[in-house]
Amino acid sequence: MNTLVIGSQWGDEGKGKVIDFLTETADYVVRSQGGSNAGHTVIAHGQKYVLHLVPSGILWPGKVNVIGNGVVINPTSLVEEMTYLRNLGVSITPENLLISDRAHVVLPIHKEIDAAQEEALGDQKIGTTKQGIGPTYADKARRIGIRMVDFIDPERLKKVLEARIKTANEELARLNWPKADPAVTLDAVMAAADELRAHITNTVPVLNKAAKAGKTILFEGAQGAMLDIDFGTYPFVTSSNTSAGGCCTGSGVAPTRIDKVIGVCKAYTTRVGAGPFVTEDAEIADYLHGLGREFGATTGRPRRCGWTDGVVLRFSAMFNGFDEMAMTNLDGLDDRDTIKICTAYKMGDQVLEYPPALMEDWDKCEPIYETLPGWKQDTTKCTSWDQLPENCKAYVKRFGEVVGCPVGSVGVGPDREQTIVVPHD
Ligand code: GDP
Ligand code: IMO
Ligand code: MG
Repeated sequence: MNTLVIGSQWGDEGKGKVIDFLTETADYVVRSQGGSNAGHTVIAHGQKYVLHLVPSGILWPGKVNVIGNGVVINPTSLVEEMTYLRNLGVSITPENLLISDRAHVVLPIHKEIDAAQEEALGDQKIGTTKQGIGPTYADKARRIGIRMVDFIDPERLKKVLEARIKTANEELARLNWPKADPAVTLDAVMAAADELRAHITNTVPVLNKAAKAGKTILFEGAQGAMLDIDFGTYPFVTSSNTSAGGCCTGSGVAPTRIDKVIGVCKAYTTRVGAGPFVTEDAEIADYLHGLGREFGATTGRPRRCGWTDGVVLRFSAMFNGFDEMAMTNLDGLDDRDTIKICTAYKMGDQVLEYPPALMEDWDKCEPIYETLPGWKQDTTKCTSWDQLPENCKAYVKRFGEVVGCPVGSVGVGPDREQTIVVPHD
C-alpha cells in the first residue's frame, strides 16, 4: 500500500503529524518536492521535532528515508538538521537516509537572489521563506542547476560551483544586491558535500525495487495544494508541484504504484506569506493567536487565519484525487459558539464552485458561508469517534460533504496519539 500525504490548503496543515502517525506501518518515507521552506512538526513521546528536509520517518527506527530528485537541497541546512536530530538522539546513517543523485542544490547565492527579487517586488512581494527555493527551481528549468551527483567528485564540484557563483554574482549586480564571496560559498558547500556524499545514490531503483517487493512507501508532501505552481494562487505560490503528481515526478515512482492519496487539512484555514485568502478573518486569527496557536514552524511568523474554504478544498480534492481527508486541529475550534464553512464564492453576480485563475478575480471573490453550531467542549482527551460531541461530528461530516471527499481521521491535539479514525458510514 503506497500512500501520498498531501497538504490540501496553503501548507502547515499538520502533514508532519499525519505522516508520523502513518509511518508505523510504512517501510519507506519519501520527500519529493520543496526544500527547507517546509517545516513539519512532530511531537513524539513529549519531544517536539521540526523537520525541514529530512523525511519524518527518521523518527521511527528501521525506516528508510529518501530525499527524492524533486527536492531542492540546501546542503548546509541539511547537515545542520542532521546534527540537530542526532543531538536529540536520532540515528542517521547512509542506510536510513538516502539522497537522490538527481536532486538540485540550493546555494547561498540562491538565497541572495530570492531576497533580492523579493525586495525588488516592493509591496507586490510573494512573502517567500527566503530559502532560495524559487531561484533554485529556476536554475533547474534553465538547465544550469547543480545537482547532488556533482558532490561525488570534489574537483568537479569546485569547478561547477566557481562557474555558477560567477554568473550569479552578475545577476546579483543587476539586482543591485551585494555580491557573494566565492571563497565563503565554496568552503561551506564543499564541507557539507563531505558530510553528505555517503548518502547520495540513485534512489529510483531503490524505491521501485522496494515497491516491487511489496514494501510500503509513504510520500511526505510539502507545502500545500494552493501553493502548487500550476493549480495554486499564482503567482503567490511556491516553485514546485506540491500536488499529487509531484510525488511521482519528484521520486521516479510511477502513478501506477500509488494506492491511496490523503489530503491533510486543518479544521479551519491558515496561510503564511502574501496572496488571496477569501475566508481570512481577523476575529478567528486573534482567537487562535490568543491560544498561542498558528505561528510558523520555519519562520515563527504569525500565520494568517480564516474559516474553512470549501471552494479551495473542493478544487484541491479534485486535482489531487484525494481518497480521504485527514483533518487536524479540530480541537482549535473547541470553544467557538458557531463555526463557519465557505461553500462557494460570490464574484459579482456569479457563484463560483471552484477558484478563479486570475488574480484580479480572486480580489473580487466573497465567501458564501454556512454557519454550524459549535460544541463548546474539550475534545483533546477524546480517543474515539464515539467520544466526540455530536455537534463536532456533525461539523466533520458536513465538511466532507462540502469538499466532496470524506474525512478519514481527525486530530484533537499535536501528539502522535491524538488522532481519531472516523468510521466509514
Ligand atoms: P506541516 O507543515 O503540515 O507539517 O504543519 P506544521 O508543523 O507547520 O504546523 C502544524 C501545527 O499544528 C504544528 O504546530 C503541529 O504540532 C500542530 N498540530 C498538528 N495536528 C494538530 C492537532 O490535531 N491539534 C493541535 N492542537 N495541533 C496540531
Ligand atoms: P510546509 O511543508 C506554508 C509559502 C511561503 C510563500 C510561498 C512561496 O511546512 O507546509 P517559497 O519560499 O516556497 O518560495 O515561498 O510559499 N510556503 C509555505 N507556507 N508552509 C510551507 O511548507 C511553505 N513553504 C512555502 O510562505 O507564501
Ligand atoms: Mg509547516
